[in-house]
Amino acid sequence: MGAPTETAVTVRVPAKVNLELRVGPLRDDGFHSLSTVFHAVDLVDDVTVRPASTSSIVTTGPYADAVPAGPDNLAMRAARLIAERVGTDEHVAIEIAKSIPVAGGMAGGSADAAAALVAVDALWDTGFSPRELHELAAELGSDVPFALHGGTAIGSGRGEQLVPVLAKGTFEWVFALHHEGLSTPAVYAECDRLRGREPVAEPEPSSGMMAALRAGDVDALADNLHNDLQPAACSLMPRLRDTIAAGLDEGALGAIVSGSGPTVAFLCGDRSEALNLMVSLTAGNIADEVVGASGPVHGAHVVHDVRRR
Ligand code: C5P
Repeated sequence: MGAPTETAVTVRVPAKVNLELRVGPLRDDGFHSLSTVFHAVDLVDDVTVRPASTSSIVTTGPYADAVPAGPDNLAMRAARLIAERVGTDEHVAIEIAKSIPVAGGMAGGSADAAAALVAVDALWDTGFSPRELHELAAELGSDVPFALHGGTAIGSGRGEQLVPVLAKGTFEWVFALHHEGLSTPAVYAECDRLRGREPVAEPEPSSGMMAALRAGDVDALADNLHNDLQPAACSLMPRLRDTIAAGLDEGALGAIVSGSGPTVAFLCGDRSEALNLMVSLTAGNIADEVVGASGPVHGAHVVHDVRRR
């Protein structure tokens, strides 16, 4: 006789890098209007939910210690938000197998929230439409809707309004991680400080970036990588400038701080160039950790659902 089948749903969710991040004026609600191009890469977290008598959350993997374990955890907030909306007092035990760096500018916490939404939605069979899930995701954070959708997409508003981008091909990335995190609000505040009183226009996607993606042209993509938060992230963590220079010296086609940093993303011509870059960055002790990933990949999706047996 086999072990009893345990009810559990596991959702896999990708990290993101912003290929373009244009920051507009500070809005009255404390957010900045954005025009960004999100790109999902196959550096993933797996989030498992199980029915339980009380709510709990555990994280495993290399970044487990840095993840909040209480009600502040964004995945826990996602589960509570769904419970509130469906009006249930049921609880779930959440387990996060974490590979996406914490506070790295790759939307790791947002990814876990999106995964928890999809997992709890499946477990409780809530019947929310994709639009309703998107709205719940946007309540949890600006980057959560993109983690639901994945692929390559333009984000506007505060990042939560998404339109898919016509993009050809797969791109190979190397990410230089720093164990010291950067706070997203602090990086936006530093961006405002560096800009001073200069007037800031409403941001728009650049035609160069759109053309590069449409053509699947890696060289043009490298030339068009742009992040308005990069000067602010480098101002708060000056060693990022050395990380960027080292990767470009070692053959990366392009380099960009990912989101609000401090992760630096290097774009490579193909997988073998990415492997060579990983070896030289690791040997040169350029960052605390170096990982490779490719994109685009799908957003949050169920990989294990025992209820279907
Ligand atoms: O939406 P999220 O919780 O990820 O945002 C974290 C913080 O980042 C916000 O409180 C805000 O300080 C800053 N932010 C911003 N403009 C955005 C997105 C985030 O100023 N569009």
